[in-house]
Amino acid sequence: MEKRVHQSIEQVFNVPFTYQVFFTEDLFSSANGLFADLVKGDKVPKVYMVLDEGVVQHHPGLIAAIKAYASEHREVFTLCAEPLVVPGGEQVKNDQQYFQQVLKATHEYGIDRHSYIVGLGGGALLDMVGFAATIAHRGIRHIRIPTTVLSQNDSGVGVKNGINAYGKKNYLGAFAPPYAVINDAQFLQTLEERDWRSGISEALKVALIKDASFFVWIEQQALDLMDKSHSSMQELIYRCAQMHMDHISSGDPFEAGSSRPLDFGHWSAHKLEHLSDYRIRHGEAVAIGIALDTMYSFLAGMISENELNRVVDVIVKLGFELYVPELSGDSLLKGLEEFREHLGGELTIMLLDKIGSGVEVHQMDPALVRNAVEKLNQLQLTNSRA
Ligand SMILES: NC(=O)c1ccc[n+]([C@@H]2O[C@H](COP(=O)([O-])OP(=O)(O)OC[C@H]3O[C@@H](n4cnc5c(N)ncnc54)[C@H](O)[C@@H]3O)[C@@H](O)[C@H]2O)c1
Ligand SMILES: [Zn+2]
Repeated sequence: MEKRVHQSIEQVFNVPFTYQVFFTEDLFSSANGLFADLVKGDKVPKVYMVLDEGVVQHHPGLIAAIKAYASEHREVFTLCAEPLVVPGGEQVKNDQQYFQQVLKATHEYGIDRHSYIVGLGGGALLDMVGFAATIAHRGIRHIRIPTTVLSQNDSGVGVKNGINAYGKKNYLGAFAPPYAVINDAQFLQTLEERDWRSGISEALKVALIKDASFFVWIEQQALDLMDKSHSSMQELIYRCAQMHMDHISSGDPFEAGSSRPLDFGHWSAHKLEHLSDYRIRHGEAVAIGIALDTMYSFLAGMISENELNRVVDVIVKLGFELYVPELSGDSLLKGLEEFREHLGGELTIMLLDKIGSGVEVHQMDPALVRNAVEKLNQLQLTNSRA
């Protein structure tokens, strides 16, 4: 008789994830019941707030408004400590002291799995706070209140959290859907011009790989967006957030495979952010990354010159650069290998086969990448002379 060498028990279960992204204004005004309704339960939960210093500086009444709101709704929830204010921007993901501060607070204030940790700020702060909330007690509910265009239309509405380590972006992190996301349009009014513009590149990205009509809409709205039209921006954010969320639920939400369609334009963007010591913001780097991969798609014979020109024109109209010196060094191409490592497995890069349709490739020709960089450099020079 054949000897049995191993046994197994198969375990299968499904955990459904649901979360809502709300769109509102003046979240902490007494007339707005959204936040209180969201955290209302049988017991009075603790709420711990982590705020982006950049937002607090531009909204000096914010902390007082949060406290007044909490006091008004004291039967629904309680602020278990003073809101923690930490710097905004990449610094909060690069320097682990802020991440440690949030973890320590969970210990000091007894923040448990029936409590809520609320991150309010740009994408960088939300990534950091979400990660701390995810690992303390194996997951405390976290609510995100994104305050930049990029975080309202892209980074804040998804399932990824993390911080940077070993000089690499998002090296430590976890997939964890938020309890809810609240987009308050009011915050966007105080964004610096760069941050207003920055998140538009993520909308351009999804439009180019998935939806030609959205691309046409962005082409038509480009000047209004640059004029700070709030109604255009609200529509852009809503459409882009919707497309991101649809993509996450219909595809591979926890990115088990090597395919990363929403990372169009991102292999070089991540590298540029790092090479420039984060002088170049994520969204700005993504715009350049889109220009590079679109130029590459053209040089590889995948899209027409007319399509290339339309993409380049819209990037320029939105006030982004096409070229930065960091593109020309030898280090850029290392970004490809780092991107592969980050995906694990096979290199998979999204390129364009027409406007509104992406196609994945598994290698990029270094000579063609260099050629694409040189062409962008020339275009930028021509534009600056015009
Ligand atoms: N988790 C994801 O899926 C995902 C996706 C894309 C990007 N990201 C990450 O998001 C980060 C970029 O986020 P971002 O573009 O939102 O910028 P950011 O978080 O870097 O913030 C930029 C600056 O804006 C300030 N700020 C934020 N809100 C403000 C407001 N309302 N008024 C005035 N100033 C304000 C901040 O203090 C900061 O100085 C990067 O770390 C990137 O890696 C994450
Ligand atoms: Zn991005």
